[in-house]
Amino acid sequence: MRVSWHVAVFVFPFGSHATPLLNLVKRITASAPENVKFSILGTAESNRPIYSGAKDDDEFTNIKAYNVSDGVPKDHVFTGNALLEQIGMFINATPGNFEKAMKEAEEDTGVKISCLLTDAFLWFAADLAQKIGVPWIPFWPAASCSLSAHLYTDDIRRLVAANGKRVEMIPGFEGLSINDMPREVLLDNEQSPLALLLHNMALNLPRATAVVVNSFEEIDPALTLDLKSKLQKVLKIIPTPSMAAASKKTSSFRVYDNDECLEWLKKQDDASVVYIGFGSVCIPPPDEMVGLAEALETCKTPFLWSLKDHARKSLPAGFVDRTSGYGKFVSWAPQMEVLASGKVGVFVSHGGWISILESISNGVPLICRPFFGDHGLNSAMVELKWRIGMRVKDGVFTKNGTINAIKLILDGEKEGKEIKENVKLLKGLATDAVKLPNGSSARNFQELLEVITKP
Ligand SMILES: *[C@@H]1O[C@H](CO)[C@@H](O)[C@H](O)[C@H]1NC(C)=O
Ligand SMILES: *[C@@H]1O[C@H](CO)[C@@H](O)[C@H](O)[C@H]1NC(C)=O
Ligand SMILES: *[C@@H]1O[C@H](CO)[C@@H](O)[C@H](O)[C@H]1NC(C)=O
Repeated sequence: MRVSWHVAVFVFPFGSHATPLLNLVKRITASAPENVKFSILGTAESNRPIYSGAKDDDEFTNIKAYNVSDGVPKDHVFTGNALLEQIGMFINATPGNFEKAMKEAEEDTGVKISCLLTDAFLWFAADLAQKIGVPWIPFWPAASCSLSAHLYTDDIRRLVAANGKRVEMIPGFEGLSINDMPREVLLDNEQSPLALLLHNMALNLPRATAVVVNSFEEIDPALTLDLKSKLQKVLKIIPTPSMAAASKKTSSFRVYDNDECLEWLKKQDDASVVYIGFGSVCIPPPDEMVGLAEALETCKTPFLWSLKDHARKSLPAGFVDRTSGYGKFVSWAPQMEVLASGKVGVFVSHGGWISILESISNGVPLICRPFFGDHGLNSAMVELKWRIGMRVKDGVFTKNGTINAIKLILDGEKEGKEIKENVKLLKGLATDAVKLPNGSSARNFQELLEVITKP
């Protein structure tokens, strides 16, 4: 019997990957025995919230961070696509940078690493885990649809080569088209380091002791079943739907009392507000900003738009003043609280999985305008499979298309009503999965604890 466990957590430090993994770890520490220690291996940048939170927050008990190299040479100047270049340099520094930090964490704690809990992108952890004889538990922060698309990369590429259009070979994807698949699935590995990385991930995931997916089983039973047949163990786990209320310690909650956008929301009618937020990196091109703005001005429904100051220059002249009676701009919004307020009637989103999950958790329908990665596939699922919203026409904001979408969902009789009912239904399933003692998410969470603390 072990006297203590040491879980090394590997962070993929880009996009919105780090936060859900860290949230999972915090949740595990709240339920795991005291003698399970967690070492977070991330870059200085992705570890920053841990260093700043650890001082005064007891939710960081048993968690310690170790910096891994980001692979960027000293004095390097980024040109072109800085994000892709950063990802490339980071990947080139693996696995050496993680091995170094693992050694440091073992020396520091005096406990050998007993398990690797890693972002699924960091598939090389399969080899490291095998080398030291411990379980590998990859975490997929996105939806199961995109995970399935990657697992079926070879089949989808064969379909493309044969000029096929419909992705019918994946259970749960009936009716979806090649164009809905993440771009990396369709790219040539030789040309795209990210496509190569995701393909390698797909080839190695069957070696994992358990794959944790940031979702819940009931949202797409056919995909869940198929994933379970392809992988050793699939544990779909979501954070509590009422996360905003439950976790008073999250940084976004601290601004609750004095946050003006929540004050503004309080004054609105229930389910009347159009909330617009495209995550931290996506901004629509100028002509689409104009189309969206003109649609809002025509509908005159109350709207809350989370938009960085520098992006407001694309709005039509005088728009902010003309709409000040019913529109509100913020440069950042506490999204979970906004969606939980009961005031939002529709969420205009980029189709990122975290946003969709937060929308479902609060029973809010979606209008999606996908940008990259899994956005297109998530948005197709929103419209065609889960039927909890719709994509903007032809994937771009136009004045008319946006007016139609807003009207259909907010005032719509038949289709809009169905969409609202469907998202309420999914909210109920998500809540049950987490809250019921025998709910799927609750059971899977217990199973994850068992895998981590295996004697
Ligand atoms: C790791 O990164 C943090 C910033 O996130 C920094 O404060 C700290 O000094 C770094 N630790 C080491 C050992 O370099
Ligand atoms: C937009 O809708 C209006 C009113 O239904 C119509 O007159 C106009 O032709 C439409 N414009 C476009 C570009 O479809
Ligand atoms: C969970 O428990 C509830 C109430 O006891 C029951 O109605 C439901 O069928 C159970 N679900 C599963 C998956 O066992």
